[in-house]
Amino acid sequence: MKFLIEGGNKLSGKIAVQGSKNSVLPILAATLLVDGKSVIHNCPRLSDVDAAIRILTDFGCAVTRENDTLTVDSTNAGNCRVSDLLSRRMRSSILFLAPAVSRFGKAQFSFPGGCEIGLRPIDLHLSSLRLLGADTDEKSGMLCCKAVNGFKGNRIHLTFPSVGATETVLLAAAVSKGTTVLTNAAREPEIVDLANFLNKAGARIFGAGENAVIIVGAPALNSIEYRVIPDRIVTATYLFCAAITGGEIEITKTKPQLLEAVFPLLEETGCAVRRNKNTVFLSAPERLRPVRTVRTMPYPGFPTDLQSPVTALLCVADGTSVVTETIFENRHKYIGELIRLGADIRTEGATAIIGGVENLHGASVRATDLRGGFALVIAALKADGKTVIDNIYHIDRGYETPERVLSSLGANIKRIT
Ligand code: EPZ
Repeated sequence: MKFLIEGGNKLSGKIAVQGSKNSVLPILAATLLVDGKSVIHNCPRLSDVDAAIRILTDFGCAVTRENDTLTVDSTNAGNCRVSDLLSRRMRSSILFLAPAVSRFGKAQFSFPGGCEIGLRPIDLHLSSLRLLGADTDEKSGMLCCKAVNGFKGNRIHLTFPSVGATETVLLAAAVSKGTTVLTNAAREPEIVDLANFLNKAGARIFGAGENAVIIVGAPALNSIEYRVIPDRIVTATYLFCAAITGGEIEITKTKPQLLEAVFPLLEETGCAVRRNKNTVFLSAPERLRPVRTVRTMPYPGFPTDLQSPVTALLCVADGTSVVTETIFENRHKYIGELIRLGADIRTEGATAIIGGVENLHGASVRATDLRGGFALVIAALKADGKTVIDNIYHIDRGYETPERVLSSLGANIKRIT
């Protein structure tokens, strides 16, 4: 599958944003801890969510979808070996390890596939689980983790505020004996969403969203109903689509307060941004101004998931911008594809120096990863002429029918085989 995009249209209009992929994935993993039904609202239709559903059904859960609502009944769940294909396909399959060991006493996974954005080890996940009483054994790409007497609370300090490792600790300690104190925890909003889900089901987690979190182990979790937060990365991505085309956009059903690191950058490019509780409005100038320095940081800093989208946005600014990636060691693969579209970018280690050009020109390019793939969409919306983007399965992992959303804003985009 490919996208065929004819650039040049100013985008304008109003869209509602999807639920957060990076919230719904750990929350789906958490349903293994609930011995009963979990009803989850605002679940986006994404291939990563489909893969998570397949893992849950492998564990014997009954999963049904009705529009944006997923119901997971894990009453009859039993231990299983997560298939190679599934755990390779989706890096966040590692999130199922802790709840599976908590529920069944042991679990077997093949190592989650390295993503296209670097090695992505899981050492912080495994060292945390060992501190909570698990034995882990890794050989020939298979990972086996056991805690036959369940997890036991402990002190854990993460050497890096890893989002996934923080979620693994919450998922392991939620149903455990004793109390866990986690320091240098990640503070992303998706961590808070997971903690809110777990607490609503009977867990006792305090301080999620801060860098020290206390989890008092609960004996069990009960069936619940929960609504996932909006996707902050998708919200910003569509703001960038309107900004690069000199258009304007209103995004509803979102949480602007999760994007406080992004709005000042957009205003520095010359965009006007207004927001209220659940809506953000942006109108863009004819020509964007450059942004001197952007550095990706753990939340509440500028998100690494917006590094490639913002680099695309700045390709046509009237001056030089500098974007530095500090979280992943290899999140620049998409830059070669932007250069094929006429961008003037050179990289020095983790830093990209973007010389703004008058405009980009259409070309045949291919998505290299999820956010890098959407960076090509952003550039193609502006580029003169036709652009074909291949390997758009990367984009479908995190963006719900982007061609429908962008067409509703006036873009000329088609999905072609
Ligand atoms: C989550 O990935 C997100 N994925 C990523 O979004 C996001 O980019 C990332 O957090 C940072 O915000 C999901 O939530 C499903 P990390 P995760 O653990 O948990 C190193 C997207 O586009 N590390 O915070 O994998 C790691 O190599 C995706 O939606 C270890 O060294 O991110 C990386 O350099 C991409 N050992 C850094 O920490 C570990 O055990 C940050 O990784 C774990 C991580």
